[in-house]
Amino acid sequence: MAWLHPAVGIAATILVVWMALSGLDGRRQTRQGLAARRRHRRYTPVAASLAVLAAILGTASVVWLREDMEPARTWHFRTGWLCAAFAGAAWLSSRGIHRSPTARALHPWLGIGLLAAAVASALLGIEHLP
Ligand code: HEM
Ligand code: HEM
Repeated sequence: MAWLHPAVGIAATILVVWMALSGLDGRRQTRQGLAARRRHRRYTPVAASLAVLAAILGTASVVWLREDMEPARTWHFRTGWLCAAFAGAAWLSSRGIHRSPTARALHPWLGIGLLAAAVASALLGIEHLP
């Protein structure tokens, strides 16, 4: 069962990378840009939800399954919850993207924060594999 979290974490990271690319691609005013925007709208909520789920599962896994680990002692813990926080902030800012210039300016940076935290978590997670 301790493998469940790493599996969800890898899926979340892959989806976040793909979604970050679609978000940046979506800025182009072309037919491909439009398709990328549609992809971004449809799948980013899945990516953000998986990132939050990964943080919850990882913490639960350390508390209940990993007798060799103490909770909240690792850099992976910090980057993991940072990732969940960026996912929430990116989602919140996306809701105002068509109304507020501030949300529009902020959103891609929150997205880049999510991307960086997810990639860092995936790399730091390797050290803790069971
Ligand atoms: C993974 C990192 C992410 C990056 C780099 C990113 C980047 C972007 C960029 C550059 C745009 C276009 C902004 C503009 O029109 O000027 C955008 C739009 C948008 N993003 Fe993200 N984003 C990310 C994550 C997310 C997440 C987690 C959500 C929601 C859960 C989300 C939802 C949206 C929505 C709804 C739009 C508006 C699309 C439209 O124009 O119809 N994004 N994003
Ligand atoms: C979005 C991606 C990820 C997030 C948000 C995340 C988050 C977390 C958190 C918060 C913990 C608890 C750490 C502690 O209490 O010290 C944890 C544990 C752990 N993480 Fe991740 N993680 C992610 C991806 C990964 C990946 C890709 C791997 C594997 C390469 C991984 C491997 C682990 C392992 C082995 C543990 C210990 C618990 C267990 O064995 O299931 N994580 N993670």
